This record gives sequence, C-alpha cells and structure tokens, in this order.
Amino acid sequence: MCGIVGVVGSRNATDILIQGLQKLEYRGYDSSGIFVTDEKNRESLVKAVGRISALQEKIGIEVNGSIGIGHTRWATHGKPTENNAHPHTSESGRFVLVHNGVIENYKELKTEYLANDHFIGETDTEIAVHLIGKFAEEGNLSTKEAFQKALSVIEGSFAFAMIDKNDATTLYVAKNKSPLLIGLGDRFNLVGSDAMAMIRETKEFMEIQDNEMVIVKKDSVEIFNQTGEKMERAPYTAELDLSDIGKGTYPYYMLKEIDEQPAVLRRILQHYYVDGQYKIDEEILKAIQQADRLYIVAAGTSYHAGFASKAFFEEMTKTPVELCIASEFGYNMPLLSEKPLFIYISQSGETADSRQVLVKTKALGYPALTITNVAGSTLSREADYTLSLHAGPEIAVASTKAYTAQISVMAVLAKAVGDYIGNIAASEFHLVKELSLVATSMVAVLAEKERIAEKVEEHLKGTRNSFYIGRGEDYYVSMEAALKLKEISYIQCEGFAAGELKHGTIALIEENTPVQAILSHKALAPHTRGNIMEVISRGAKVLTVVSDDLANEDDDIIVPSVHPYLTSLAMVVPTQMIAYYATLQRGLDVDKPRNLAKSVTVE
Ligand code: F6R
Repeated sequence: MCGIVGVVGSRNATDILIQGLQKLEYRGYDSSGIFVTDEKNRESLVKAVGRISALQEKIGIEVNGSIGIGHTRWATHGKPTENNAHPHTSESGRFVLVHNGVIENYKELKTEYLANDHFIGETDTEIAVHLIGKFAEEGNLSTKEAFQKALSVIEGSFAFAMIDKNDATTLYVAKNKSPLLIGLGDRFNLVGSDAMAMIRETKEFMEIQDNEMVIVKKDSVEIFNQTGEKMERAPYTAELDLSDIGKGTYPYYMLKEIDEQPAVLRRILQHYYVDGQYKIDEEILKAIQQADRLYIVAAGTSYHAGFASKAFFEEMTKTPVELCIASEFGYNMPLLSEKPLFIYISQSGETADSRQVLVKTKALGYPALTITNVAGSTLSREADYTLSLHAGPEIAVASTKAYTAQISVMAVLAKAVGDYIGNIAASEFHLVKELSLVATSMVAVLAEKERIAEKVEEHLKGTRNSFYIGRGEDYYVSMEAALKLKEISYIQCEGFAAGELKHGTIALIEENTPVQAILSHKALAPHTRGNIMEVISRGAKVLTVVSDDLANEDDDIIVPSVHPYLTSLAMVVPTQMIAYYATLQRGLDVDKPRNLAKSVTVE
C-alpha cells in the first residue's frame, strides 16, 4: 500500500503534493512526508505521524519549491514513527526517495553493500536510497546509472520516486508490481500512485510498465526498459472527473458511495446494454463457453461478491464455478480442470494477493478475465480480457458500491453468455428489468436512513461482538455484512450459515448477544426463522432484515423484494447502513478505519 506523488517544474510543488497525498490517503494513513526543493537548493523535508492533516499543520506556509516528492504510509516494515516515515535520504543526504511496496531482499542488500552505513529508521526503503547513494558516490556512477544499478539488485515490489539534490530539475522514477503513473502537464510533469492523485492538475497520463525506469523533467518524459533501451509510449486521457472524487455535502465518502448504488446499477446497464443488446466482447463469451470450469479469484469484499454471483453464473453459463481466496490459492493450487478460465474480481485491480495468482495462472497458459473498477490497473492490463465496473472512484476504505457493481457486472456477463449459448433460462431472465427493480428497491431502503440509525443504536449500542446469520444467498450477504461491520466499527462479528450455528458456535450466544438475521429466500426463510428462535431462547436479541414478501409485523428492516438471482444486491444495502451508523455512533472515522488501506498491494 502507501501512496506516492511527485512533481517537477511547478511553482507550487508543496500544494500539488499535499493535494495529491490527500487523494492517496485511502492507500494508507499511518504517517506521511514531503520533500521539496528548487534550483537554488532551498529545500524542506517535513514528516508527521498520523493523517495528512497532521503533515499540513507542520508544513506551514513558507515551504515551497519547484520539484518535490511526497508519501503517505501504511506501515509494513517498522512502526509508524517520524523516523520511519518517507521520504528517506541517502547516507550523504544527497538523494531523497519515496517508496511504495516491499523490498524482499533488503537484509541481504544491507549485509552485502551497506554494512557500514548509519540508519535511523527500520524500513526497507532506507536500504534502497542508501544503495543508490553508495553506487553513485563510491562507484562514481551518474544518478541514472546508480538508480539503474540499484534496480537491478532490488527484489520485490516497488514504486520509487527520487530526487538528486544536485539536480533539482529531474525526478527519477521506477516501478515493479506496485502501481505508478506519469501525469503530463503544461511545462510541468507529475508522478502518482493513481490518476486521482493528479487529476486536479491534468487529465493526460502515461503508463509505466513493470521494470521500467523513467526520467521525468518539466517538459520531457523518457522511459527506459530493464536493458536500458528507450521505450515509446503514447499518452492517454483519463475519463475521471474532479467532481467524482469529492464528498459533496456528505459527511463521509462511505455514505455517498452507499447512496450512489442505484445510479451505479443504471450506469452499468447504460454501458453494457446498448440498442437492445448486451455489449460484451465476443472473445470473452467464447472464452467462457470453451471453459469447463470457472475459477473466481478475489479477496475480501470482492471474494464475497464472487459468492453472491456463483449461483446465477452457473445457471446461466452451465459451467461450474469455484471460489478461491487469492492469498491461499496461488500457494495451495488445487487440481485444476482441463480447461479452466480464471475470473479476477478486484475493485482496485491492484491487490497483490490476486496478482500473484494471475502471474501463476498466466504462466500455466490459462486465460484470465479481470473485472475491476480501475481501467488500466495491473490486473486489468495483465489479464487477457477485462470488464469495467463503471462504479466511479470508490474512496471510503470499506467497499460498498464496488461490491454491488461487481455482482451486477457478473450478472450482465452471465446473461450475455447464457444468451450466447442459447440457454433458455437466460432468455427467460430479463436482466434489464430486474436490475432496474433492484435499483428501485435500493432507493426505498436508502430513504429509511433515520429509522435504520435508530434500530442500530438500540441493537448494537455498547456491544463488542455480534453475529449475522442467513441461508443460501443470505449467508453470502452475511459474510459481507459481518466484514463491513467489523472493519469500520471494530465490533467483532461473524457471518454464519444460520443452520450451522447450532453445530457449535451457538455456545457463544448469551444474554443480549446481538444477532442480525437476513431473510430473502422463500424456501429457506422458515428454517432461518427457526434458527432465530434458537438464539432468542438463549438470550440473544435479534434484528431482522427481511424482503417484503416474507416479512411479518415484528421484523425490523423491510427490503422490497427482487429477483431471486439478485437478492444479494438488495439485502446488502441495509447491512452497509448498519455498519455505517454503528461506526458513526461510536465516534469513529467511517472512511478511514485503523490498520487498513484501500488498495492492498503487498502479499
Ligand atoms: C472491504 C474491502 C476489502 C477489499 C479487498 C480486495 O471493505 O474493501 O476486503 O475488498 O482488499 O480489494 P480489491 O477488490 O481491490 O481487490
């Protein structure tokens, strides 16, 4: 994780860096720092523990320059202290560097090259900048040569941006596995971990591939591959709009993103249903038709979206679907079918756990499709096929609209494949109409905010643990609902298959244990009602989230019912609101929960 940003050729480097870091805060917010300088060597290095606002307070108004680099940290090696915050400097102080990623061989590098160097921090990043300093100063190499030499011995993931204080006109940049983009300005240029960090300054970007090194000046960008050969790269224009990344009048991004879900569903239909046809590349349809098994690889919420899509996907495509946790799958690969197709679901398109599987399945020669919210992201570039979520930037750490967009795009894909292979079940499934009904159901639930907030206050006040229970699709929603509640409110919560509770876990139910039950499945609801009675008999207090066709007058949150394939989309919305209000009522930061980052680019 961590976010990096850099600028060269601007009269206002500090402002650009701070604005960029604020947009990158979702990538980590343990500590941050900037270095700025100018051609007269008026330099400042400022670091602070905590949020970017803490850094801003320390900077004051006098710090400025024409070139600078900045960093917001999600600690991997070393505690979040000021010493460990980036930028880091070389032994002589000449080179200053920021890094996102993990240098795997940092101990070996330290022993081999830097035994006598003096380190103040505990991070792997310091090794990189000391190494460059050593190669440049003792090996008598140019900065470019020293940087290249360091890159040739560093193993692991990295996005680097570096300044040589002897030349305040050049940014040295490189990447491997960690995301990094160049932003192109008019007589200034930028680098950043994503386009959002630079969108205030430019809409023109240039991609950097793994193992490339880039020399960025105010009016030129030179890209070199691993062997030093100069590469040509066309710029592209990003579709992003500055208003997409603002909070508007909302107190938190999470609430804005929850509210956006009906609009996201409609936008997905606009993109994928054109002139009465589902617009999915025929190559993708063919690839799915030819596969004998589909492996969905994902992490966290995206993994849960895979579960929510499994049943309709199998029914429409007539192909078995297996769910795989990315961090496990790559290292414990099961016996694969003869013609597998891998589907990578990832909001960010950067999750390192998923990427390591993609690298392995590609090496085995298997086709891959990525479904992501970030066009041009690593998983999207490296897969054979890609489908976009069109959810707009998701900024709150807790994923909401990306989850519902993932299930919706999976539904579009399943329907398109079903039609392609002539499956009657697909022709009878009127997805456009059904997704529109889901959007309407969401709107109705979103209008109940105050009532839901009151229910949450009554039900979860002061609790440290709770359970979500459900069966079938409602179990999958329970898994997602529990993740959402624990990651932002810090209430320990387990999502449980309702019928499984009595096989052991019911021992944890005691007086006043809060249980949230989800019921949207006609055939299964009576059984879940039975499980509700079991926990009530043992002292639990239960909050029910029920689709209107199954509701009775004692139920708490009623959701207008939708097509059985799509219940997860409707049932998840109140659970997102439960997590949101539980967190708000505890006085916690909804958008930036502790220990987390939005994009997890380390394994
Ligand atoms: C939870 C959450 C995470 C992500 C997971 C995978 O709210 O957002 O569980 O879903 O880290 O991230 P992506 O989807 O970017 O691969």
